[in-house]
Amino acid sequence: MPEKFYITTPIYYPSGNPHIGHCYTTVACDSIARFKRMQGCDVMFLTGTDEHGLKIEQKAAEKGVTPKEFVDEVVEKFKSLWKYMNISYDRYIRTTDDYHVEAVQRIFKALYDKGYIYKGEYSGKYCTPCESFWTDSQLDENGCCPECHRPVAFAREEAYFFKMSPFADRIEKLLTETDYLRPKTRAAELVNNFIKPGLEDLCVSRTTFKWGVPVSFDEGHVVYVWIDALSNYITALGYENDAHDDFAKYWPADVHMVAKDIMRFHAIIWPAILMALDLPLPKHLAVHGWITFNGEKMSKSLGNVVDPFVLGERYGCDAIRYHILREMALGADSSFSNEIMINRINSDLANGFGNLVSRTVAMADKYFGGTLPTERETADIDDDFRAVVLGAFANVEQAMNETKIKQALEEIFKAVDRANKYIDETEPWKLGKDETKKPRLAAVLYNLLDGIRIVSALLSPFMPETMPKVWEQIGASETDVEYAKLSEFGVLPADVTVHKGEILFPRIDVEKEIEELNSIIQKNMESAKANLSAEEKGEVIELAPEITIDDFAKVEIRVAKVTACEKVKKSKKLLCLQLDDGMGGRQVVSGIAQYYAPEDLIGRKVQLIANLKPCKLCGVDSFGMICAADTSDGGCKVIFVDDSIPVGAKIR
Ligand code: MSP
Repeated sequence: MPEKFYITTPIYYPSGNPHIGHCYTTVACDSIARFKRMQGCDVMFLTGTDEHGLKIEQKAAEKGVTPKEFVDEVVEKFKSLWKYMNISYDRYIRTTDDYHVEAVQRIFKALYDKGYIYKGEYSGKYCTPCESFWTDSQLDENGCCPECHRPVAFAREEAYFFKMSPFADRIEKLLTETDYLRPKTRAAELVNNFIKPGLEDLCVSRTTFKWGVPVSFDEGHVVYVWIDALSNYITALGYENDAHDDFAKYWPADVHMVAKDIMRFHAIIWPAILMALDLPLPKHLAVHGWITFNGEKMSKSLGNVVDPFVLGERYGCDAIRYHILREMALGADSSFSNEIMINRINSDLANGFGNLVSRTVAMADKYFGGTLPTERETADIDDDFRAVVLGAFANVEQAMNETKIKQALEEIFKAVDRANKYIDETEPWKLGKDETKKPRLAAVLYNLLDGIRIVSALLSPFMPETMPKVWEQIGASETDVEYAKLSEFGVLPADVTVHKGEILFPRIDVEKEIEELNSIIQKNMESAKANLSAEEKGEVIELAPEITIDDFAKVEIRVAKVTACEKVKKSKKLLCLQLDDGMGGRQVVSGIAQYYAPEDLIGRKVQLIANLKPCKLCGVDSFGMICAADTSDGGCKVIFVDDSIPVGAKIR
């Protein structure tokens, strides 16, 4: 029976488009899953989307669609990115899948029946716009909401709580005395910040929004999104549902991989839930840092600055996979820079590995017409070369067992460098000129081809698209690159035939590319900024002094229809509009000529401030004003009125 191996990514929030930050965990897990499959394991690789919660509900409302319609669209974008990046997941879970929803309800009920979940009351300082409770110590320096900095008020809400304290000792041991957390250096921060001060019970239901898994036995409550989300790792295997049937086979997970911002949920809350359910704990939690851009975590507000599709189109998806995996060490952040990426692709892939393959194949072609003769002459230096390649194999295996991907790639490239050095040392171009040295030349080229076989097979989990092309070029069959054959030389047929092929990784013109990428990034950032609300940009809106309802009643706002419109001569900014206002008509001058052509407005209904004191603008009389809103790019948009509302209707 093959050994089983279960690996998971976090399930992603489909609240915006995926970016290269999301790609890291997914590509890393994909590489590990592929490596384990190559080793002969029975792999289950799970990813998916975490689709409930207030944020999604709000985003959907902003777009005027249902939450399900909203997530359906974004989930497709995630799936198409994973397809593009060659992600070989075995299962994709959506937390809106019926089987998951029902299983979460059963899990919640089981925890309740066991007495770990109880009904209580949440009280504290509540921020209405953010729909969040805060403790006094979490409030900002003015005693306001730490997120939006608006005033908070004391409030109470009925809620369910999960008892955490019974599990504190076991969790502390798990983090400090076992190999669960990787890197283990992070254990102290968790223990000191969360366990030592006393694990607080966790509020696990909400009544302030609807878009979640309903608590089956108490209408109006939805399950806290993290209980819903974390459960995915077991519901996807069939725990408490009939949709799947692999729980007994794959659980416990061998590796959960997450970034540092969600480590706490996986290091403390998830083990506590599993302990309460009497289930075995996952074997490892691998925590990586963030891909940052100019020191900030890559995110939507940066405009998904580095679009994986854009990069993939330019350099190929394998080069992108390689770059992000090669830069990120477990536990630490890695700063994304186009310059580092391009230099890395040029040095490691174009000059290092690509050049090794193309030189070797070209020489076999040139000196032997593509097929190596079997007469060979060996030399001591061959042993050293072979030992380095086989040593790399052993080190890669070790690093991958410890989920140290960057280290595994470093080991492989030590072998690539050694192979290039072997070419310099043996000088095959000199051997090729002398007929008597052909047996030596054949030995050198065979060693190189067989070394490339091992190295390319080791690289295949990381760059799955390119390596089959290498095998084609070096004349390796599918069985030649099986894992069991990577710990030995002499696997390629003695009379192997090479096939010259395309350049694997073309060299990139650094300056030209950086200029082009910078301009793409600039555009992305500008358009992302323009699409953010003032709140998302972190701007504080200063309200004008309060007015009473009577003050407001003094303003007469009416629906009017634009019947004619023209530019005001001598002004670049003004348009002169003729309006049907239901009161005999009137003329209004408006400063919107930079944003609208007259024909854009004719026939549209607008909001008219009808009792504004008349004035003259550029010598033209204006009797009122039409309403428009500022846009985030410094422009403005007229607030049009639905055509079904009659001219003259009062707006209140
Ligand atoms: N839905 C939760 C996870 C629930 S798992 C039971 C979530 N989703 S997320 O989409 O916001 O983030 C998913 C993962 O992507 C997290 O591990 C997050 O840290 C990671 N990343 C998001 N941006 C990232 C970078 N810029 N760099 C590296 N990882 C990043 O959290």
